[in-house]
Amino acid sequence: MNHTATLQINGTACSLPIIEGTESETGIDVSALRSRTGYITLDDGYANTGSCASRITFIDGEKGILRYRGIDIEEIAEKSTFIETAYLVIYGHLPTPAEMKRFSQLLTENQSLHELMKHHFEGFPTTAHPMAMLSSMINATSCFYPGLMGRRNPARFDVQAARLLSQVRTIAAFSYRKSRGLPIIYPKPDAPYTENFLHMMFSLPYRDYAPAPESARALDLVLLLHADHEQNCSTSTVRMVASSQANLFACAAAGVCALWGPLHGGANQAVIEMLEEIHRSGDDGSAFIAAAKDKTSGRKLMGFGHRVYKNYDPRARIIRKACDELLAALHVTDPLLDIAKRLEAAALHDPYFIEHKLYPNVDFYSGIIMRALGIPLEMFPVMFAIGRTPGWIANAKEIMDDPKARIYRPRQIYIGPAHRHYVPIEQRDLSSTPAQESPAVPCHSA
Ligand code: ACO
Repeated sequence: MNHTATLQINGTACSLPIIEGTESETGIDVSALRSRTGYITLDDGYANTGSCASRITFIDGEKGILRYRGIDIEEIAEKSTFIETAYLVIYGHLPTPAEMKRFSQLLTENQSLHELMKHHFEGFPTTAHPMAMLSSMINATSCFYPGLMGRRNPARFDVQAARLLSQVRTIAAFSYRKSRGLPIIYPKPDAPYTENFLHMMFSLPYRDYAPAPESARALDLVLLLHADHEQNCSTSTVRMVASSQANLFACAAAGVCALWGPLHGGANQAVIEMLEEIHRSGDDGSAFIAAAKDKTSGRKLMGFGHRVYKNYDPRARIIRKACDELLAALHVTDPLLDIAKRLEAAALHDPYFIEHKLYPNVDFYSGIIMRALGIPLEMFPVMFAIGRTPGWIANAKEIMDDPKARIYRPRQIYIGPAHRHYVPIEQRDLSSTPAQESPAVPCHSA
């Protein structure tokens, strides 16, 4: 195979190295392009840009393959747990029994928030979205561990990572309790990660909540399936922040903000809202599908489509099966699951969705599981954030560990006004300037 690509620019040839990944995926290394030619590449939305070389997760979107550290997601989902998977994602190998024991110990030792952190919760209105609280509180955690600041300290990384992974769950549960005016429930020292989360969510001071094993397993599976997904919007954000050598908590707080939007981690909430709307309206789904195909409607079939998958998202397949199993085990029915299945069947046979290669993504069915567990809608993106934390940690670590890592700093093609001069205010011709919207809040004169 030819290991260079040649780019012709105005008659001059520029030879660029071709980089090949472990799974034979290829990319053209343009890092020297500007210094050699004066040109940059332009790729709006980064659909064609590899921002890094990474050893963590492999996706083949055409074939619907997802692997963490080389292992198929189907195999991990069947045999592993969220915490073991987190170790795999962060450290690159499946833990030995001794490594697993130490990791679990670190998670337990670091699961409680600093007591002063509780005061921060008091400042949020009860209407605050838990993603806003989660991001703020993760960032606030770094105030209590100033030793975490600055460049990675390998000796302390394990504690930082365990504290973040363990406390993200504690913060999430506390946010929910506070938003409902419920007393905070502290984590148990001996409960597994996911059971402990459900305990902090649903126990009462006078009554312990003991989830059915099927419930805890289903939620653990949801978290595991979200553990990493290579260079998605939130993970790229985490890497961007990590590249400036900010601390791990700052990186994760930024990741939560990026995840919040309905095109990313907010989609699981949007899917249930969409299914509820269809249920309320009595539509069999066809009116919604018609609207989703109509570009003027402003609607999309939420939980469908993906930048990378042009095939069925393997996580959606696993979650769909888990939905059926959980509802059967709990002896509950959910009309939204039936609507979701009907929508999926209709979309998969619809020429628009076939031509656009739009398939269910991970968010299409995950909300049904969370509903069955009694997790409120506004907490759905938070669950995604807990699940994605191992991936954020692993990606930040990859940058921290790389002695050649540079700050992420993309370029742009400037399309604003060409060079011009400052005009004193009394000489400005208002008719030649575009109309400005009035500010919502009166401005103070300088
Ligand atoms: N419903 C209807 N049409 C869609 C949908 C959808 N869900 N998704 C994409 N399309 C159409 C677009 O309108 C566009 O059509 P056109 O080429 O005729 O103009 C085409 O498919 C390509 O879509 P883009 O938006 O350009 O694809 P992009 O890769 O930028 O976006 C995304 C991917 C954001 C996931 C998009 O498919 C979407 O908005 N889906 C719904 C929200 C969702 O489920 N998000 C979760 C993503 S997975 C995750 O974060 C875990």
